[in-house]
Amino acid sequence: MENFVVSARKYRPSDFKSVVGQQHITTTLKNAIKNNHLAQAFLFCGPRGVGKTTCARILAKTINCENLSADYEACNVCDSCTAFNNNSSFNVHELDAASNNSVDDIRNLVDQVRYAPQKGSYKIYIIDEVHMLSTQAFNAFLKTLEEPPKYAIFILATTEKHKIIPTILSRCQIFDFNRIQIKDIAEHLQYIAKEEEITYEDEALRLIAAKADGALRDALSIFDLIVTYSAGGKLTYSETIDNLHILDYDYYFKVTDSLLQESVSSVLLTFDEILKKGFDGHNFIVGLSEHLRNLMVCKDAATVELLQVSESARDRYIEQAAKSHLSFLLSALNICNQCDINYKSSKNQRLHVELALMKLAKLPQAISLAALAREEIKKKD
Ligand SMILES: Nc1ncnc2c1ncn2[C@@H]1O[C@H](COP(=O)(O)OP(=O)(O)O)[C@@H](O)[C@H]1O
Ligand SMILES: [Mg+2]
Ligand SMILES: [Zn+2]
Repeated sequence: MENFVVSARKYRPSDFKSVVGQQHITTTLKNAIKNNHLAQAFLFCGPRGVGKTTCARILAKTINCENLSADYEACNVCDSCTAFNNNSSFNVHELDAASNNSVDDIRNLVDQVRYAPQKGSYKIYIIDEVHMLSTQAFNAFLKTLEEPPKYAIFILATTEKHKIIPTILSRCQIFDFNRIQIKDIAEHLQYIAKEEEITYEDEALRLIAAKADGALRDALSIFDLIVTYSAGGKLTYSETIDNLHILDYDYYFKVTDSLLQESVSSVLLTFDEILKKGFDGHNFIVGLSEHLRNLMVCKDAATVELLQVSESARDRYIEQAAKSHLSFLLSALNICNQCDINYKSSKNQRLHVELALMKLAKLPQAISLAALAREEIKKKD
């Protein structure tokens, strides 16, 4: 059997332009290289799995590249780049502070800083999860960070910026990494699926992207997992929802249709079916709120782009939104919100949701009665 390389490693970007969703950072870094205006210490902050380590490595490689391209990317062929790409460069030192956080670990690193690079212009020290360093380790490091030799560059990375002491913060140029947008993650997954010759349904990728909550690494792990389990190397929506135990959005369309038809019985039966499949009432109400919110943003052409769903699902939302009155959506969101807030404190949670559903099913009628009454008043005036 061929060695399986997880996608997160196989597809680690090797230059700035292939980093997804962090243009504000890659552009600034490239400009600094262009203008020869590099800081000596950087702090990369942001959630996990969004490209901090990746960008640190790209920066390290790029500033030592012997043959920079016109747009300030590493060439990936010169001796220095090759050494970097093979993890055999003497110019980059990585310390994972999560597991090496003692004073001695930092002293070792600081000792190396004294020696100028034999080849290339810079020695780069990447300290990951820097907030995990012990106080003594921090202090041992501070001196070096204060007066580093010209050839030394420090890139500190952390998921918890608030834990970094001010003396360190003030010595670093700080970069805040973004959570990555669902759309960008989905596009990246598409690219990988094509490279791997995996057939896929757009909605499956969209779902994985949403589940990853902004972290590209998580998206890639989920992607690998589902590809492994899926039959015949095809990534389908239905297999993905099964694997992730996510409620099929079909249910929300169905429930909303029943609500619009004021069919209490069909809504209650659908809810029963959902519970029988092992889904939780609370998640259902939260999911329904999200669905109503999606319909709501479809009511205005200006906000349709806030809809974070796949192309094919988009038309369905727009179609259902056209059938739903704006005041219905607003009041329905309100009822769902109340149900969500009080869910945990309710003694009979099933009934709690059912009651909300019954109220929802009566909404269209209440709204048309109110409209009728308004008409009457107008006529009298
Ligand atoms: N912005 C991004 N663009 C492309 N791939 C990314 C990005 N962020 C994360 N990845 C993928 O996830 C993996 C882990 O990313 P990493 O840079 O180690 O995240 P972090 O250091 O922020 O936790 C990378 O190897 C890459 O495959
Ligand atoms: Mg990292
Ligand atoms: Zn190079």
